[in-house]
Amino acid sequence: MKKFIAVTFAIACLFGCGKKETENLEQKMVSPETKQTEASPRGDLGFIKNEQGFIVHMKDIKVLLKHLSSSINQQNWEAIKQDTKKLKEASPVAFTGANKKDLPAEFINLDVKFHMSAQELIGACQEKNKDRATAAFFKVVNSCDECHAKYNPKEASTSWFQ
Ligand code: HEC
Repeated sequence: MKKFIAVTFAIACLFGCGKKETENLEQKMVSPETKQTEASPRGDLGFIKNEQGFIVHMKDIKVLLKHLSSSINQQNWEAIKQDTKKLKEASPVAFTGANKKDLPAEFINLDVKFHMSAQELIGACQEKNKDRATAAFFKVVNSCDECHAKYNPKEASTSWFQ
């Protein structure tokens, strides 16, 4: 969250420096920006084509992670196997219902990161090593949080892990 504030502040500063520009330029810069804020309070999430569906999928993977967390604790490797398989198949990029080329590159990168961490978790669970599985599990949680820090305006979605 602090990072987010810092970034916002840095952006605000950038715009502040724009005052040195000629008045003409400044007007051009201000108008499209105010328009965007009015159109959507959620700003840059316009690329999610089916918001309701997207949120349902997100809630599903949250339930999946909760279940995984207790299965890892109990070392129930059969349940873990099923959950990790579902987790690997989950794709925030696909959930948007949008064409990949219309999505921000960073969103796609964060999706890739999530998949890499899910793959790592699968590896750790195949070894049936609780410590490695736990570490990999939290890497997955971090990959969720990393994308939310940037794209989820409601942020606290995975806060139940802390
Ligand atoms: C590539 C980006 C990305 C990744 C990775 C990601 N999410 Fe999300 N998530 C989002 C966005 C964007 C929203 C906000 C959607 C909205 O409000 O329209 C969101 C919202 C949520 C919500 C809130 C739904 C609600 O009630 O409004 C939950 C819960 C959630 N995500 C869980 C997870 C979990 C658990 C993971 C990891 C296993 C995860 N997400 C990974 C992008 C991502």
